[in-house]
Amino acid sequence: MSLQPHGGKLVQNFNPNAPLENIEKEIQLDAIALSDLELIGIGAYSPIDGFLGKEDYENVVQNMRLASGIVWSIPIALPVTEEVSASLEIGEKVKLTYNDELYGLLEVNDIYTPDKQIEARLVYGTDDLNHPGVKKLFDRPSVYVGGKTTLIKKSQKQFPAYSFEPSETRAIFEEKGWKTIVGFQTRNPVHRAHEYIQKVALETVDGLFLNPLVGETKSDDISAEIRMESYKILLDRYYPKERVQLGVFLAAMRYAGPREAIFHALVRKNYGCTHFIVGRDHAGVGDYYGTYDAQKIFENFEPEEIGITPLKFEHSFYCTACEGMATTKTCPHDASYRIILSGTKVREMLRNGEIPPSTFSRKEVIEVLINGLRKEVHS
Ligand code: ADX
Repeated sequence: MSLQPHGGKLVQNFNPNAPLENIEKEIQLDAIALSDLELIGIGAYSPIDGFLGKEDYENVVQNMRLASGIVWSIPIALPVTEEVSASLEIGEKVKLTYNDELYGLLEVNDIYTPDKQIEARLVYGTDDLNHPGVKKLFDRPSVYVGGKTTLIKKSQKQFPAYSFEPSETRAIFEEKGWKTIVGFQTRNPVHRAHEYIQKVALETVDGLFLNPLVGETKSDDISAEIRMESYKILLDRYYPKERVQLGVFLAAMRYAGPREAIFHALVRKNYGCTHFIVGRDHAGVGDYYGTYDAQKIFENFEPEEIGITPLKFEHSFYCTACEGMATTKTCPHDASYRIILSGTKVREMLRNGEIPPSTFSRKEVIEVLINGLRKEVHS
């Protein structure tokens, strides 16, 4: 018996043949809303079955729960302009389009104006517009529309061989005979620290679901195409094939740190994971969150309310005295022995063609990154 989805049941509202007669109005989605529509439709956001109405939205923002009491930490909203909102009526169906193509339907249930200052402060912990998630929040239109959605078309799959729905990953894990599966979220190439914590986890669970986020990220993050190349080569050379599954996660990055860690864990539970890695400054950006805030936030809930076990890891690094990967839990040497490079520093090195040490990242990964960045620069 595999793990129960969040809320007990996988939501599946994909219907390519949904009737469209008499549906005239349309709402144009942005990239975030498009990925949310698809993730709702395939059940990754179970028990959510549409964009949140006011009551759910306010509960999520204030209490990290849906109105039903089920834990949910990131508001999944559909922002529209005042002009669009004025044309909508409660109860009607509208088309959801992206680049003029139809992707879904929405049954308008609620139209409301959120207080974005409150959303920023409570969800992101700041209303500083230098925070990329907060900036995005304020850049999006000002009125939210809630209602149940139907997914009519899935987006063109960027990585078809690695695109799975929760029902599919659940079947894959079952077929492999995995009873315990650890999910790993990442928006970065897998460096030695990531590999270390994944492999420490793999010592105690049956399988690893490497689930990189490939939705919208901030512009200086490394692109999903390049990252996917690096994951494939790394898995091929350094991981036991029968114990790892690679699959993409379509969501946009919110950079909401602790709140996003809960969200990331719940979604991976829907994909069938029993465990989820939360390391140092999970989903963080800049200095907005404490190093372990994303781990501490889990203490606000009973374990059964979350229903997936967070595997919490200390900041890991290569120690030149230990001659291996370690954390402060396992290594007695001081900071001068530790190889620690910030993401910003590594990106800067790569863009200058400099090679970070193999104690930070495996050479195969670095090669892919340097080649990928070169191509990006020339294209
Ligand atoms: S994230 O925004 O997707 O969280 P990233 O891809 O860097 O960013 O991290 C993926 C996961 O690895 C997160 O759980 C993060 O906390 C963890 N992590 C990243 N670097 C380290 C490290 N040096 N030590 C321990 N955990 C880390």
